[in-house]
Amino acid sequence: MRLVPLTSDYELTVFDCGDDQLNNFLYEDAKPSLELRIANTFILEDNGQIVAYFCLLNDKVSKEEIIGSRWKKIKNNFPRDKQFCSYPTVKIGRFAVSKDYRGQNIGTWLVAKLKSLLREEGSRSAFRYITVDAYLSAVPFYEKNGFVHLTKKDEDEHTRLMFYDIKEVG
Ligand SMILES: CC(C)(COP(=O)(O)OP(=O)(O)OC[C@H]1O[C@@H](n2cnc3c(N)ncnc32)[C@H](O)[C@@H]1OP(=O)(O)O)[C@@H](O)C(=O)NCCC(=O)NCCS
Repeated sequence: MRLVPLTSDYELTVFDCGDDQLNNFLYEDAKPSLELRIANTFILEDNGQIVAYFCLLNDKVSKEEIIGSRWKKIKNNFPRDKQFCSYPTVKIGRFAVSKDYRGQNIGTWLVAKLKSLLREEGSRSAFRYITVDAYLSAVPFYEKNGFVHLTKKDEDEHTRLMFYDIKEVG
């Protein structure tokens, strides 16, 4: 298997993760988002078959969107003179594994790969956290991969904002 960045001339083959929105993003929005420079997509392929994909974009986590104790914990990661109202993040915009490859630890492997790739990019644009708006059904998956909830404000919504501290990558 190999992980490749989506390019404008990449020939997309069949992909079905069981979620129409995520399937459609790959076919309809991934290349325009690349062209518009608002999200970069990466594809995990196996002998020409698309096994999984994710996309990344820049974001921030700010005091306003978080209630109480979690922000205190974030703030405590920084010395007093670096305690700002927001910190830079990389957001996982989309993340999906093909139905044919589900439950084989591919998602877990890909999250670990994504973390180490981002960590290696330390010399480029700085960020401290990885965030994701997790589907409720995928929350246990992200928890198993070290992500924690950022706020309780979104408990009744259909996605939950979760984050991971990139300094945790060994
Ligand atoms: C969520 C998803 C990416 C997980 O990928 P995967 O390759 O099947 O996951 P893994 O095999 O690495 O699973 C790792 C662990 O998470 C658990 N897990 C995975 N998906 C889960 C789900 N939907 N609900 C509960 N637990 C889940 C697995 O049981 C496994 O736990 P275990 O190690 O104790 O057995 C995949 O199911 C998927 O693409 N789903 C549809 C799209 C989606 O929800 N994407 C996330 C958008 S935010």
